[in-house]
Amino acid sequence: MASGSVYLETFGCQMNELDSELVVGALSALGYRFTADPADASVVLYNTCSVRERAEQKVWSRLGEVAKAKAARPELVVGVLGCMAERDGEALIDRMPVVDILCGPAELDRLPELIDNAARTRSSLLSTEAPTRTTPARSARQVALQGSASRRSGTLAAAGDNLEMLDLSRSVSPVDGVGGTSAYVRITRGCNKFCTYCVVPFTRGAEVHRPPEHIIDECKRLADAGVIEITLLGQTVNHYRFEHGAAVTVDGVTQPQKGRAFKGGHRRDPLSGQNTTTFADLLKRIHDEVPAIQRLRFVTSYPRDFGDDILDVIRESPRLCRYIHIPAQSGSDRMLKMMNRGYTVAEYDDVVARCREKLDQREIGRPLMLSGDIIVGFPTETDEDFEKTIDLVRRSRYKNCFIFKYSPRPGTTAYDKIPDDVPESVKRERNNRLLAVQAEISDEISREQIGREFDIMIEGYSRTERKRRGIDVKPGTGMVAITIGGASGPTETNGPAPTQPSTAATTQLAGRTDGDLIVHVEVPTNGPTPPEDLVGRIARCRITDANGLSLAGEMI
Ligand code: SAH
Ligand code: SF4
Ligand code: F3S
Repeated sequence: MASGSVYLETFGCQMNELDSELVVGALSALGYRFTADPADASVVLYNTCSVRERAEQKVWSRLGEVAKAKAARPELVVGVLGCMAERDGEALIDRMPVVDILCGPAELDRLPELIDNAARTRSSLLSTEAPTRTTPARSARQVALQGSASRRSGTLAAAGDNLEMLDLSRSVSPVDGVGGTSAYVRITRGCNKFCTYCVVPFTRGAEVHRPPEHIIDECKRLADAGVIEITLLGQTVNHYRFEHGAAVTVDGVTQPQKGRAFKGGHRRDPLSGQNTTTFADLLKRIHDEVPAIQRLRFVTSYPRDFGDDILDVIRESPRLCRYIHIPAQSGSDRMLKMMNRGYTVAEYDDVVARCREKLDQREIGRPLMLSGDIIVGFPTETDEDFEKTIDLVRRSRYKNCFIFKYSPRPGTTAYDKIPDDVPESVKRERNNRLLAVQAEISDEISREQIGREFDIMIEGYSRTERKRRGIDVKPGTGMVAITIGGASGPTETNGPAPTQPSTAATTQLAGRTDGDLIVHVEVPTNGPTPPEDLVGRIARCRITDANGLSLAGEMI
């Protein structure tokens, strides 16, 4: 039985949030307890992101802080998990000797063993040498990285199997606050696209699709535990394809990609026939076989992989959300080519048009909502390229769009081959201009919803209500068990914490439409149904007002 408590902080994408949840489950099962206060912890873990330099800077500053704590409490064990561990490797410990554990995202099943070893090594180090102000404690170095093995087919199957156990052994009962009514389920690991700016193929390794039976099983177990909303995760989630009978399905390894059809997406291969589960098949199976899941969505979609088969299944399946996150990255063909995105602007426009044509069913109260990602200031981007991106954003009418300034990442093709020549001031200006354009569109879309009726999945107190009640609203901090949301897109709520009751006549709750629009609803604090009892449920609301991206609604 392990002793001591763990502080775990998560940075980065939903993939990392899910990984953290799995880590919490695995460590809890071994007897570890979690704490929201690093000062109480005997193990401090950071699950990190490498996608932009800023994401890494946050972790460096956390490590600086924890180094001070460790000077006072030398027995503290510090671990860096996730993409930054994988990318930086042991150089990270050389730079920050406070770090004892490095664990890449493909090795998380080994984390309990690493923590155990680090704690033992730490105490034997401490008995032989006492750290002083001038000689910091030596790291009790425990390292598990996928490293250069990540793209060797032989090791892939084994790595996949062990990792598969981590997902399969997921705890679905509320352990240490994990649980609730929304959950992520991974369907694909890794990425094979190699966009020239991106670290993900290096940190997460080659694309591996999970067997559909495992995915459906996990969805069923989550549904049995009370989950009603599932978000399927993959870096290029709509690229999912599982060949039955292959030990492990990896594009380019056991299953060479056979000419990617742009429009048809993943038609069944005539040779393998029914032995293939396509993404469309998977969506339909989950929808039909796990009816307790009232909302099913998926992120992130790759524009090139949207076949009509997928769109048809969504249209025919009432519990599939009318929400698609489909990053364009740029509106200039020249930039898309340099980014190695594999599609043209015209092809992107065509996907958006097909999505709207098939999935926008506003006549039955189900308007389609799209969201996007854009990178501004990619090397050599001219004003003209940027204007084309503005045009694309206007045409696409995203409900929200994440806009990033290009950040050169060591090890990527863009970093090695193309100088980062767009000045920071230009990046900033383009970023702000695009934000303003998107804000206008978001505002328009919000206002269009006034008077419409939606099913809202209530997620918890709104940000305003949390402030009113004095609950911490700092985003992205604290122990993962209480920061895991489960919903995609901008997260603003955590489940209500049992704190002092509100003295106000109404309590403001926040929820989402199936198109991922945030709605605030005031409900009577002392009405027949206590506001807290609505959390995790779906309620019918009419939209009464709109302000930026958030909508106000009333229960009907
Ligand atoms: N697999 C997803 C994206 C994962 S990374 C996809 O392809 O859509 C999330 C977003 O971060 C990307 O969509 C991109 O917009 C942004 N991003 C990735 N690398 C970046 C970099 N080096 N600089 C700036 N933004 C980056
Ligand atoms: Fe990165 Fe491109 Fe893969 Fe997305 S598709 S994770 S941007 S390499
Ligand atoms: Fe970051 Fe890794 Fe996700 S780099 S965006 S945590 S896949």
